[in-house]
Amino acid sequence: MSSGSSPPGPADVSRVTTKTVQEMREADVPIAVLTAYDYTSARLLDRAGVDVLLVGDSAANVMAGHETTLPMTLDQMVYHAQCVVRGSDRALVVVDLPFGSYQEGPKEGLRSAIRIMKETGAHAVKLEGGEPVAETVERIVTAGVPVMGHLGLTPQSIYNYGTYQVRAQEEAEADQLRRDAERLEAAGCFALVLEKIPAALAKEVSEAISIPTIGIGAGAATDGQVLVSHDALGLSTDFEPRFVRRYARLDEHITDAVEEYVDDVRSRRFPDDSESY
Ligand code: KIV
Repeated sequence: MSSGSSPPGPADVSRVTTKTVQEMREADVPIAVLTAYDYTSARLLDRAGVDVLLVGDSAANVMAGHETTLPMTLDQMVYHAQCVVRGSDRALVVVDLPFGSYQEGPKEGLRSAIRIMKETGAHAVKLEGGEPVAETVERIVTAGVPVMGHLGLTPQSIYNYGTYQVRAQEEAEADQLRRDAERLEAAGCFALVLEKIPAALAKEVSEAISIPTIGIGAGAATDGQVLVSHDALGLSTDFEPRFVRRYARLDEHITDAVEEYVDDVRSRRFPDDSESY
């Protein structure tokens, strides 16, 4: 974007900040978020113009092969975040506080957030939950660390739900979610992820609060969208919820390439003279 009157967008900023994403919301410029866990992918996503790189605890699923996100440790999140920060020049890097690193309360949450900020160079943390974590959010924000909230389907509570189905379909849960969103905004969150809730509710919440909402399975009315990059790029294709759009089938490209390599090695077509010394 070149004109001074254009809304803030990717070309206008050197490093996306929490202020940038707020400005994007105000200018109605949708915010593009993808997860990242390693240096090489972070570099590609950052250069392709992603606004926010989320070092998600979904690393437990797509990097480590766990069924849930619960096994992820703070040490592991620190490692992934360090790799992503080294690979990014432009995106805002947000890091998930993993299960067991903030549930004891504000003191534990602050200690974990400080570790992330000091040891990784990331720019913000994310944690899951509403009212029960509001004081923790306040404590972390007061210490100068930006916090992204996360409501709706919060995978760290999966054993409470017992299922990955759409949340807040009943009025009581939808009402609680509305209150939680307002409480998180009041606690100082700079943005809020809304996961797997009805599109109409996500729209209502997005209009009721003044911080950016980032949806995943929450319809088109949120201020931004997030996907797990392995899902969007077709690296992990056994997970097929309706909210995932596959922008590539990298699994097929990789399988083809590796089969060709194995073939070349077996038939001694690799290496040839030009690849030898
Ligand atoms: O861990 C993660 O990847 C997330 C996104 C799905 C929002 O929290």
